[in-house]
Amino acid sequence: MISDSKEKLSPITIGLHWLVALTIIGLLTIGFYMTNTSSYGLYPIHKSIGVIIFSAVLLRVVWRLKNGWPEPVREYPSWEHRLAVATHWILIISTVVMPISGMLYAGASGHGFGIFGLEIVASNHDPANPAQVIPYNHALEEIAEEVHKIVAIILASAVLLHLVGALKHHVLDKDATLLRMLGKSK
Ligand code: HEM
Ligand code: HEM
Repeated sequence: MISDSKEKLSPITIGLHWLVALTIIGLLTIGFYMTNTSSYGLYPIHKSIGVIIFSAVLLRVVWRLKNGWPEPVREYPSWEHRLAVATHWILIISTVVMPISGMLYAGASGHGFGIFGLEIVASNHDPANPAQVIPYNHALEEIAEEVHKIVAIILASAVLLHLVGALKHHVLDKDATLLRMLGKSK
């Protein structure tokens, strides 16, 4: 059975959810850590994983647009349902905006990016001083950097709210919301 139902989510929904969720949590952690500690060795790893996960993010968006959102396992108060739907939209949209702004930022800044050594946008070194890079487009670099930083905070906050929601369903409401996303039934 490939589509989602109230009792069971499809392996595609479950697989894409956990692939994207765990990778995004990893990228948020590496991102905040590398910028706060100036760990430049982590930048290429962050960029490479970010570019790769973008394809899974896009697949997930297509899957959601084609299949709609999974039906809640039971009736909730309408404020709770609306909050969950809004959080899911913020999560989906932010996961699209983060890789795009990251690529625009890394590309426009002249640092370039690729996938583990496979170059996509080349870096733009200053011939007079090869240790320096020259931005291809400074205005775009600044906008994309700001977007990447602001959306990172929005995404991290939404993930926390989402996690609290998932635990509330499991521990307080004792319903099947989390179990269904783990491929189990109550
Ligand atoms: C879903 C994917 C991504 C997530 C969740 C993510 C998350 C983050 C976070 C949390 C930061 C730290 C922001 C801060 O300083 O406050 C960051 C920084 C950065 N990210 Fe990403 N990122 C993603 C994808 C990408 C991609 C695809 C690229 C480039 C190809 C990229 C390039 C960068 C760069 C260059 C920085 C350093 C910014 C600076 O030094 O000011 N990111 N990212
Ligand atoms: C460890 C952390 C996480 C847990 C425990 C968790 C748990 C869940 C659960 C139980 C659902 C089903 C909700 C329902 O049936 O209405 C769900 C749905 C969803 N989650 Fe997560 N999640 C986590 C992390 C994430 C992250 C990091 C993202 C985004 C990057 C994310 C994005 C979504 C989205 C968009 C949905 C809506 C259904 C879908 O599109 O598959 N989740 N999550």
